[in-house]
Amino acid sequence: MGEWSIEPATVESLPDILEIEEACFSAPWTRKMLQAELSGNPFAHFLLAKQLPQGESGSVSLVGYLCFWVVFEEVRLMNLAVVESMRHKGIARALVMQALETGLAQGAVKALLEVRASNQAAHGLYRSLGFCNVTTRPNYYTNPIEDALLMELNPIVPKTGRFTHEFGRGGEGIRSLQ
Ligand SMILES: CC(C)(COP(=O)(O)OP(=O)(O)OC[C@H]1O[C@@H](n2cnc3c(N)ncnc32)[C@H](O)[C@@H]1OP(=O)(O)O)[C@@H](O)C(=O)NCCC(=O)NCCS
Repeated sequence: MGEWSIEPATVESLPDILEIEEACFSAPWTRKMLQAELSGNPFAHFLLAKQLPQGESGSVSLVGYLCFWVVFEEVRLMNLAVVESMRHKGIARALVMQALETGLAQGAVKALLEVRASNQAAHGLYRSLGFCNVTTRPNYYTNPIEDALLMELNPIVPKTGRFTHEFGRGGEGIRSLQ
């Protein structure tokens, strides 16, 4: 189903990000919240996954994104989504690995995130990257009310070897080397 690449977001992508956000979450971030991360927060990074044009008439389309903060020694994964039609291709994993690499380059040593207790897909993703459960935060989420699982990768090291990436080659775009 074509190739995809990862690049930093600009505020021009806000309408497309909002559309995916509203399709993927029962309690989506608002336009204002997304805009603050794209342009107002000095700790925030925003990555986009884009599907490259199919044939001459095709156009680039946004298929996923990750918002994360690098705050001193911590990478905080804040918001991650991949459009339904593009899931199970390694896009979310590539986005998270890019965030971990960015954090490492800026001196971060650990990564943290909160995730809905029922979100099996996200648990599987984070566990596959080495994240462990730290604690439960009761009633953390609304719509519906649900506990959050706090997950941590400490220290930031891939399960096998070091991270490397070659973007723009679809599902093979990012790998862990021995
Ligand atoms: C969670 C989400 C981002 C995963 O995106 P994705 O691009 O399909 O994930 P990947 O293809 O990179 O999957 C990487 C790993 O995650 C795990 N995983 C992904 N989807 C899974 C599912 N439905 N069930 C169980 N494990 C799953 C697997 O371990 C997978 O590795 P594998 O393909 O080698 O088995 C996507 O399902 C999504 O956008 N969901 C809605 C929004 C959301 O829940 N965001 C996360 C909030 S914390």
